[in-house]
Amino acid sequence: MSELNEQGNALLKLLADGHFHSGEKIGELLGVSRTSVNNYIKGLQEIGLDIYKVPGRGYQSATPIDLLDEKIIRSLSQHAHVKVEQILDSTNKWLLDKIPNLKNGQICIAEYQLAGRGRRGRTWVSPFASHLYFSYYWRFESGIEKLSGLSLLVGIATVNALEETGIKGVSLKWPNDLYYQGKKLAGILIELNAQANEACHTVIGIGINVRMPPEQAKLIDQPWIDLSSLSDGKVDRNLLSANLISQLQKLLPEYEKNGLKPHLTKWFELDCFLNQPVNVLLADKHKAGICRGIDEHGALLLECNGNIETYIGGEVSLRLA
Ligand code: BTN
Repeated sequence: MSELNEQGNALLKLLADGHFHSGEKIGELLGVSRTSVNNYIKGLQEIGLDIYKVPGRGYQSATPIDLLDEKIIRSLSQHAHVKVEQILDSTNKWLLDKIPNLKNGQICIAEYQLAGRGRRGRTWVSPFASHLYFSYYWRFESGIEKLSGLSLLVGIATVNALEETGIKGVSLKWPNDLYYQGKKLAGILIELNAQANEACHTVIGIGINVRMPPEQAKLIDQPWIDLSSLSDGKVDRNLLSANLISQLQKLLPEYEKNGLKPHLTKWFELDCFLNQPVNVLLADKHKAGICRGIDEHGALLLECNGNIETYIGGEVSLRLA
């Protein structure tokens, strides 16, 4: 399935206002029986939309649904290569499958991912029209060597984009998570297609929790937060996408030239574990120490018995006293 059918789309548009609509009226609009209306509603619920029925009143979406709009994102970001899809496996995979025929800076955003990819082979829960599933293709002419700090730079670009959208107080957890008060708000997954001594093709995937439907929340096994619970107003995903595009367009070419060094101060401001006791989870062991930030290659600096050790891979968790 790559998009909802005609009836599915008509139903989606009707329920998008967040008001009640009777089964009878929906049936008339779609040209189908009451039983079929139930099936279409089930279909939308299955892809993560929070729609419920109140006897005597009809069906309602728990919140108004505002859809992504390719034209709006293009015009807000002044960027032509934006593709918005309704349903696909994964926005990262969509771009990876199209290398090397992509324009540098091609973007893919989706309303729903059937197989959203997280780090370490995990699934990224991707309900319809709820969050932001965003991927950006970038060709690094300078090859693979320069990429060690890329996920950290993307973290900084994402925090900047959130700030421009009015969301303050987001911090970064090395190497590529966005946190708000100890809860995960967003994650970054960078996938590569690289050959030695050639340009390196990167697909930068960013998933941001915008409005988590209660049923989908049950599928997540770590503390999480979404933008709608930390901002007063409704979050405009089109504006957030455009701000993300502008940030990446600005920071990626700069990073290719100058690396991470110009961004170290910003990282230290945003690092949620700086100077705190942490555990670094490596392939086969844990290492305990004090987080002392990062170096210019994006490696984690860990103070262990008075010495600074550097780590390129792994995951960090806070070590409680
Ligand atoms: C993580 O595990 O923290 C990384 C999550 C990355 C999710 C995003 S959503 C857009 C892009 N497409 C995917 O399939 N994954 C990334």
